[in-house]
Amino acid sequence: LSMEKGEYRHYMLKEIHEQPAALRDTLTGLFTEDRVLTAILGPEAEKRLHEVQNIHIVACGTSYHAGLVARYWIEDIAGLACNVEIASEFRYRRVAVPANTLLVCISQSGETADTLAALRHARHEGYLATLAICNVPGSSLAREADWRLLTKAGPEIGVASTKAFTTQLAALLWLSAALAQTHGAPPEITGEIVRALHGLPTQVEQALQQDADIQRLAERFANKQHTLFLGRGPLYPIAMEGALKLKEISYIHAEAYAAGELKHGPLALVDESMPVVSVAPNCQLLEKLKSNLEEVRARGGQLINFACETADMQDQDGITHIHMPWVNSCIAPILYTLPLQLLSYYVALVKGTDVDKPRNLAKSVTVE
Ligand code: G6P
Repeated sequence: LSMEKGEYRHYMLKEIHEQPAALRDTLTGLFTEDRVLTAILGPEAEKRLHEVQNIHIVACGTSYHAGLVARYWIEDIAGLACNVEIASEFRYRRVAVPANTLLVCISQSGETADTLAALRHARHEGYLATLAICNVPGSSLAREADWRLLTKAGPEIGVASTKAFTTQLAALLWLSAALAQTHGAPPEITGEIVRALHGLPTQVEQALQQDADIQRLAERFANKQHTLFLGRGPLYPIAMEGALKLKEISYIHAEAYAAGELKHGPLALVDESMPVVSVAPNCQLLEKLKSNLEEVRARGGQLINFACETADMQDQDGITHIHMPWVNSCIAPILYTLPLQLLSYYVALVKGTDVDKPRNLAKSVTVE
């Protein structure tokens, strides 16, 4: 994964397309065929992971969204309590730390001031251990944590994070499976996750082939002032990440809502000038989302829904479905990130913004 832009017009587009390779590199050495290898965290890891009863996750920006997805995974797969907090909040408050809590700090750069300060602040708070999930091996965060789980995304130049995010998610799904395994989960549960992760890079490659469809969609957003992103369950933080990408590089105001909250406020804003984007893999939540989609349509809203090709959903007035390849639900948050990255990229392109260096933003926020 090189530093050159090569055939790509922007680093961001190059980095979006590097995700299959970045995921392959990140996942190498983390499993056997169907078992999680915990030894990469160190010799005592198996025993220490077994002792973990709670998880606190701290991060900023896109890395925080990865943490929010992980909460769904850790509680669902490993059955352990998990809290997620923005580092700039965590570092300035008294946090109640239950016995046997693992602190996980997520940071692409490993140099974000607030995340680093959170790790240092936690040193005297009685955590069982600290784990840095980081893309830069020699960074301050990676050096100072007890354990490190390195993502192998390679250098990320575009300010808007893409491949760092999906590799963080892969690392966090590994962590969820590692916690489940060390807490005695049935091998079929962890085996299913391991197999899904083995197939992930290829499925990401397939999902990226939708480039042209999404490019066409982008035209519809370019002259809009506001957009709404909806998701449920672990796809809710993916909706948040989709909204963040659009804000960062296309300067369109975007907000994400858990689909079930639509009626509690944002529905009042929906009209033909506010497109709504939803992400709905084919799972038990899809039926619920269908009623939200109807609510939007009934108010004249334009809805763009990313849904599994196996879901029975046809285009109709006001609703466009973009079909995604079927995936195991545990990796759906990773897969459904891709079209949202592409969407924000192509909207920015239509608007002619500086995609790789959006105004007012920095790649790494090393001062408070
Ligand atoms: C900045 C970047 C974001 C990034 C965040 C956290 O705001 O623009 O893309 O998600 O910092 O960075 P980190 O290196 O800690 O993941």
